[in-house]
Amino acid sequence: MKNGDKKQAAAGHKPNMAVEIAGIRLKNPVMPASGTFGYGEEYAPYLDLERLGGIITKGLSLRPKGGNQTPRIAETISGMLNAIGLQNVGIDAFIEYKLPFLREVNTPVIVNFFGNTLDEYGEVAQRLSDLPEVAGVELNISCPNVKQGGIVFGTDPRAAAEVVSLVRSRLNKPLIVKLTPNVTDISVIARAVEEAGADAISCINTLTGMAVDIHSRRPRLANRTGGLSGPAIRPVAVRMVHQVVQAVSIPVIGVGGIVRPMDALEFLIVGARAVQVGTANFVDPQAMITIIDGIEKFLVDEGLADIHELIGSLQV
Ligand SMILES: Cc1cc2nc3c(=O)[nH]c(=O)nc-3n(C[C@H](O)[C@H](O)[C@H](O)COP(=O)(O)O)c2cc1C
Repeated sequence: MKNGDKKQAAAGHKPNMAVEIAGIRLKNPVMPASGTFGYGEEYAPYLDLERLGGIITKGLSLRPKGGNQTPRIAETISGMLNAIGLQNVGIDAFIEYKLPFLREVNTPVIVNFFGNTLDEYGEVAQRLSDLPEVAGVELNISCPNVKQGGIVFGTDPRAAAEVVSLVRSRLNKPLIVKLTPNVTDISVIARAVEEAGADAISCINTLTGMAVDIHSRRPRLANRTGGLSGPAIRPVAVRMVHQVVQAVSIPVIGVGGIVRPMDALEFLIVGARAVQVGTANFVDPQAMITIIDGIEKFLVDEGLADIHELIGSLQV
């Protein structure tokens, strides 16, 4: 069909926006990035949660965690540095106080989690397996702001494979593994986690950065360094998603610096099957709704009946 004919054929029909990630059906490809959307409930007054493709929760650990000393956030040009240190309520309080709300929201719930040790990763995975409300999990092996857990596992292919296969053996749900950009070659880590049993990959987490207050001459974060997020990191994230898509055959979720619909479209075109929006939620709690509507409008304008016609359509 010629382009003009395709546009006419698509006019008046809503394009298909639904995608599937590791067996989880998302009504559209847009979800919040872990740690920027609390446990969902916090944002309920500001947007219709049921419009989201899914909800990804703040990273959970076996026991509650207070996080790092303050200051732990610093604004930068086109982004922010954070060193929250994975503060969270712990799995027991999550089940008792947070999950009952999420259960009533008609969209898949994906729980992001981490452990301080290998054993803890395994134990949280086991506990999450018992929860029917949880559609899937996102395994964080990429937090740059804590000494144990997170990035220690995510920067070495053997350590990454070890934690992924342990979690895989204790988990009866789809397993998404979240990668760090703080490595020389992300495709090596991506292949290692795929071989170890990951069902999908999300990338990227934050890039390690530092900022200094020139008057006090102190680091702006108590932790000295923090994770850089927001529009500043988007080209790095797009490049890494492109690399990972080439390296593996499991679905990839793109995350990093998405603010506008066109940002999300870049990730989909390089082959991400879904996207996550993080820092933009702090600036505009409606950002994800604008992005969902904008992707749909783009499909209509381009005469595409299905989002899969766009995914991976990069011309090189
Ligand atoms: C304040 C803050 C807290 C975060 N907490 C987590 C977390 O608990 N687990 C995780 O995997 N990623 C966490 N992230 C990383 C984001 O999920 C995301 O990967 C990153 O911010 C890049 O996306 P963005 O540029 O759209 O923010 C956090 C990011 C921020 C800014």
